[in-house]
Amino acid sequence: MSKTGTAILCGAASLLACAAGSGWGQVSQIPTTVEQQDESPQTRTTMHSKLLQSQRVMEGLVRRDFEAIEEAASILKRISLSPPPKLSSAGDKSDEQVYEHFRLEFARLAGQLERQARRREPEATAWVQQNLTATCIACHDYIRDFPQ
Ligand code: HEC
Repeated sequence: MSKTGTAILCGAASLLACAAGSGWGQVSQIPTTVEQQDESPQTRTTMHSKLLQSQRVMEGLVRRDFEAIEEAASILKRISLSPPPKLSSAGDKSDEQVYEHFRLEFARLAGQLERQARRREPEATAWVQQNLTATCIACHDYIRDFPQ
């Protein structure tokens, strides 16, 4: 299938699942198996947890389960407020200020997601969820693009 075809399909299905499955781009891939990982166990656990909570948000949106979204958003917010302490030794060579920018933006959006879910606003909640997902991808892109 052409790259465009894959991209369109990815848009229709879950973006994150596709990003992991289709071998996107030439940059080093975000690891998807335990063997591929060289970051610390704490980073691994934190990020897996982010992935899990984002999936719960997605599920909450399609099932209109705002309570689940609220809870997942609150966990996401807490995770981002306490980042893994040793990112440098975890292979992250990013400039700390830029990383911090993404991290705080993520925390801000997670808080917004929680508030919109509490207000039971489906459109607003979906909008914030998409912005939050964009921040996952932006931070990951930044980390990958950083000169090794
Ligand atoms: C502030 C930056 C930042 C944000 C925002 C961020 N991540 Fe990460 N993520 C990292 C870093 C750093 C790593 C570990 C190093 C690497 O992959 O190069 C990582 C790794 C991962 C991994 C691979 C770890 C593993 O166990 O295999 C997954 C999955 C992941 N992130 C998911 C997410 C999801 C989902 C979101 C959004 C809900 C997100 N991340 C948001 C910085 C971020």
